[in-house]
Amino acid sequence: MSKIVIGYSEIIKKTDLGRGNFIMEIAPFSKARNIKPGQFVHIRLPDTNVFFRRAFSIYDYSPEQKTIKIIFKVFGRGTKLLAGLHRGDRLDVLGPLGNGFRLPGRRETVILVAGGIGMPPIYLLAKILTEKGFDQKRLLYFYGGATRDDLVELKKIRQLGVRVYPATEDGSLGFRGLITGALVDVIDSRQGKFRMYACGPEGMLRAVDELAGKMGIPGQLSLEAPMPCGIGICLGCIKPLRVGGYTRICREGPVYEIGEVIL
Ligand SMILES: Cc1cc2nc3c(=O)[nH]c(=O)nc-3n(C[C@H](O)[C@H](O)[C@H](O)COP(=O)(O)OP(=O)(O)OC[C@H]3O[C@@H](n4cnc5c(N)ncnc54)[C@H](O)[C@@H]3O)c2cc1C
Ligand code: FES
Repeated sequence: MSKIVIGYSEIIKKTDLGRGNFIMEIAPFSKARNIKPGQFVHIRLPDTNVFFRRAFSIYDYSPEQKTIKIIFKVFGRGTKLLAGLHRGDRLDVLGPLGNGFRLPGRRETVILVAGGIGMPPIYLLAKILTEKGFDQKRLLYFYGGATRDDLVELKKIRQLGVRVYPATEDGSLGFRGLITGALVDVIDSRQGKFRMYACGPEGMLRAVDELAGKMGIPGQLSLEAPMPCGIGICLGCIKPLRVGGYTRICREGPVYEIGEVIL
């Protein structure tokens, strides 16, 4: 784990993406140089009685400008309050936290699976791989949601030049149905050595974990859990491991090998 820094940052931009989704740009973030895709920040809301911090994956960052971006969806009390903040409001930001993804080998075809608000770390992984010169034709980006408006920042993903496979449950864009359906179709039509990365709702991760296990595809999953402390002290975020015992998602995770955690 990289060195953790707590610092006050300001909201420098907030954009409403619709359907309760927002992008927020935050600065300064002094550790913006050392961020790995899959890492997250833990944010305390100012001037409220919301005591626990909320975790958000890092969506993008600029080491030069010391900025980070997060995308969040209004879910409960904390995210509702966050959505009501404005440019210039101060946040107490802890991070970068977590281990982050291990990058694939050059010869592998990379299957990226983002479900709903699990999109930010998958986008950052795709972006870093393209920046490192990874062949874009070997980056297959699956993005699923209930309806097309859930697939936020689709234009930015397409700009990476990767192959994008949208899937919506109502059929309003791309494959009609769950993302795992789209996944099976495409993998069956291709040959080669695959590596899979996924982030999204637990039901989706369970299905991806099972599918990858059956198909013998290695890879990693980024998990979510309630995270009161975020630094490994409270044990509020534990999950059982297949080999026995438990893991703390905030500290040993949030990224795990496929098949490692019981979902
Ligand atoms: C690693 C990680 C990355 C994430 N990345 C994103 C992201 O990129 N975008 C996004 O939209 N969401 C992300 N989430 C989920 C995000 O943190 C939740 O949407 C958010 O916690 C919901 O907060 P809320 O206040 O709206 O909901 P609430 O239901 O009010 O609160 C949920 C969370 O608050 C904390 N909490 C509240 N009350 C208690 C209590 N009594 N005891 C202990 N804990 C309590 C817990 O952490 C709980 O999970 C991520 C979560 C994790 C763990
Ligand atoms: S959130 Fe406290 S141990 Fe993980």
